[in-house]
Amino acid sequence: MDKMLEEAVTAIGTPNIALIKYWGKRDPELNLPTNSSISITLDETLNTKTSVLFSDCFKGDRLFINGEAYDLKDTKNEKTAFTAKVLEHMRGLAGTEAGALIVSKNSFPTAGGLASSASGAATLCYAVSEALELRLAPKELSIVARRISGSACRSISGGFVEWRKGSAADGSDSYAESIANEEHWPEVIDIITLIEDKKKKVSSSEGHRRATETSELYQIRPKIADRRVESMEKAIEQRDFEALAEITMKDSNSLHATALDSFPPILYLNDTSKAVIQRIHELNQHEGATIAAYTFDAGPNAQIITLKKHKNKVIDAIGEIISKDRILVVGQGHGPRPLPSSESLLGDMNLL
Ligand code: DP6
Repeated sequence: MDKMLEEAVTAIGTPNIALIKYWGKRDPELNLPTNSSISITLDETLNTKTSVLFSDCFKGDRLFINGEAYDLKDTKNEKTAFTAKVLEHMRGLAGTEAGALIVSKNSFPTAGGLASSASGAATLCYAVSEALELRLAPKELSIVARRISGSACRSISGGFVEWRKGSAADGSDSYAESIANEEHWPEVIDIITLIEDKKKKVSSSEGHRRATETSELYQIRPKIADRRVESMEKAIEQRDFEALAEITMKDSNSLHATALDSFPPILYLNDTSKAVIQRIHELNQHEGATIAAYTFDAGPNAQIITLKKHKNKVIDAIGEIISKDRILVVGQGHGPRPLPSSESLLGDMNLL
């Protein structure tokens, strides 16, 4: 048993926050996006830890997430479906039929619009690749992670990350890469608010589908988003915060406009989210400069992109709306990394 535990791999990975959003798929099977996107990989304040052990002695695979057992044959469940896909793919690459034991733990609420699927999927891909000694390069890992959950492909690399949409029908050129690592502009931080921790009412997968299939407004979005990607690349390169902030807010607003224009409409933002939007514009106006930008994924939780030096001003401003114990300050991260065996989650589970 000790030998098996020694061969187990434990990894930690993190979510990312998109500044230019992935919204709409040109191929839903392969998660190929209609536009390129740019995100910031976050530090380990919010994280997923995953331990993986492969053994020929295991009959089948077992998956535990946050202490709960999942049936990997359940194709209706997003988590099990994506884990099964990774295992099948990676076992094929490694030429093994060994069974897997996977234990994963999120340090934050799943499905609350805080990219737990991106964090979970990126960490899983990395841990499985290491456990099977495949040592896949970031490009390959990004492609595998993308197939599980599109935005996960951006959590494989650190700092500012761009997912180029690509054009190949098989998705071989649709993956994410770091365009500036976490040391390029570490002043940029993300202030995360936990306005609601309930499960999303409409999943992002359904949001992608409904926007592409039913929103007329959506039809003009991919071109606009791709143009913004170019402007954002420049803003990052030149460390131009005002440009970064303005593009970020506009792109978030554009996503939520097409969500509302979908039919039936999707309203991810609630009254608190809207109050945060107002408050950030008031703050910027009061400062006479754009010092903060809000952005929202498929949920009501605001994430405020700002610079370290403005942290307290931003917290004071949104602290009028959201209780301070629901506000987290998060820096930039580097993508998944291995953890020592003393951090293995397999030991806790009494599974072997
Ligand atoms: C609004 O990556 O969750 O967060 O590929 O169906 O798993 P699937 O979708 P997902 O979509 C994320 C959408 C978003 C924007 C973004 O992160 O770019």
